[in-house]
Amino acid sequence: MHSFRLAAFVWEGHCAAMTMTTLTFLLPTPDDTTTLASKISKSLSPGDCLLLEGPIGAGKTHFARALIQSRLGREEDVPSPTFTLVQCYDLPETELWHADLYRLTSLDEIEELGLSEAMETAICLIEWPDRLGEYWPNHALHLSLSLVPQAEDARQITITFSDEKWQNLIGQVSKEYLDEQS
Ligand SMILES: Nc1ncnc2c1ncn2[C@@H]1O[C@H](COP(=O)(O)OP(=O)(O)O)[C@@H](O)[C@H]1O
Ligand SMILES: [Mg+2]
Repeated sequence: MHSFRLAAFVWEGHCAAMTMTTLTFLLPTPDDTTTLASKISKSLSPGDCLLLEGPIGAGKTHFARALIQSRLGREEDVPSPTFTLVQCYDLPETELWHADLYRLTSLDEIEELGLSEAMETAICLIEWPDRLGEYWPNHALHLSLSLVPQAEDARQITITFSDEKWQNLIGQVSKEYLDEQS
């Protein structure tokens, strides 16, 4: 048991023709992050792109590793692509790309690595997406992880999207996650 109150705060903001939806909730332990990532993994299709933001140690790689292992259906070694920048996994129906752009030195590398094409055709998980510049994918699901003061094992996650294709998936996943937690 943990002592946190579990709640999701949902915010819908309208600007011009775009609706942004934002949900924030607590991930009290690493296992909770694994659970949420596994739930999301099941519903991803080719062309889906997840942008993972947050400071070093926030849990971006933990989330990505859990999602990849769940989707692969096995405990495969999932190294952090800190130096390779990208790591690619084969799924029966598509490829799953895991990128860490912290050490990206030029935007040209995004094209050269094949990441710009993968963002349209594969499933992509991208750490440090602020490095994407003009390649920023507007259709992406945005996940921002942050540390929680005085709770070493807890993280807060904020999920944001404007593309309505995420509405059902995230609505369903967050409901399931919060129901199981309460
Ligand atoms: N609730 C949590 N969710 C995810 N990771 C957590 C959580 N609590 C503690 N951690 C730990 O924080 C660390 C996060 O490291 P990592 O995923 O490599 O961070 P990042 O990729 O954001 O730099 C891991 O050691 C993980 O076990
Ligand atoms: Mg990382």
